[in-house]
Amino acid sequence: MKIVAPSQAMQQWSRQVAQQHVLVPTMGALHEGHAALIRRAREIADPSATVVVSIFVNPIQFGVNEDLSCYPRTLAADVALCEKENVDFLFYPTVEEMYAADASVRISETQLSQRLCGASRPGHFSGMATVVAKLFNIVAPNIAIFGEKDWQQLAIIRRFVHDLNFPIEIIGHPTVREKDGLAMSSRNAYLTPEKRAVAPKIYQALQAVAAARATGEKNIAILLMAARMALEDIPGAMIDYIEIMNEETLAPLSEISENSKPRLFVAVKLGETRLIDNIALHAS
Ligand code: PAF
Repeated sequence: MKIVAPSQAMQQWSRQVAQQHVLVPTMGALHEGHAALIRRAREIADPSATVVVSIFVNPIQFGVNEDLSCYPRTLAADVALCEKENVDFLFYPTVEEMYAADASVRISETQLSQRLCGASRPGHFSGMATVVAKLFNIVAPNIAIFGEKDWQQLAIIRRFVHDLNFPIEIIGHPTVREKDGLAMSSRNAYLTPEKRAVAPKIYQALQAVAAARATGEKNIAILLMAARMALEDIPGAMIDYIEIMNEETLAPLSEISENSKPRLFVAVKLGETRLIDNIALHAS
């Protein structure tokens, strides 16, 4: 595996190689969820394709009171995981070279990014989209893979790739979960043992709502109330949002119909740790 730090070197390489390349963008602190994305990259790519993982803790997608300074940085373990998963290139740029001191351009998505995490984390999605666009321009992948846990992020990336004509196929990979159902996330490392013990109840709440939907419940207010009651039952949980949206447009739904593609989205704070999760509410 080659570790490439300067963007220029990465960009030169990506323009020279003829074979397909697949990008898995990350902020490091890699876990089994990232490993699954890397394996998926290998599975879907041509046999001769190059798999590139980027690790960059992107400062401009963190709000002022967020966890940028304490975000887990575990480079040695990340390198080991990438080597084990047969990654070809690990792109590991510095903040200074990703953002010139006079950088003044950001990508701003104006619809999908307004609700859910966009409402609670102003500027987050603009910072995320800007760095993903930069990574796309540097690595020039044919395919890029993102986890569905961050469903809103994935929807925004799909939209800007479409709107700005990036010639890149975006693949969403199903959320990878711990055995007890908790969605894997680098931020799970922040959970105290007490909070970690109750964290799986978030997914249990989502599953209960999906089960109600599967048995025919279509009333959005009833489904939202079931989610709220289950989440409020989690000791110490502070609910940020519970919403049912069309999973493509992220427009809120007032009713469930044949084509409304409903998905339940939640964000819950357990102590200082903010966890998000989502589940499809398609009829069975
Ligand atoms: O999901 C993430 O890890 C980040 O938001 C991403 C897509 C790597 C951009 O910094």
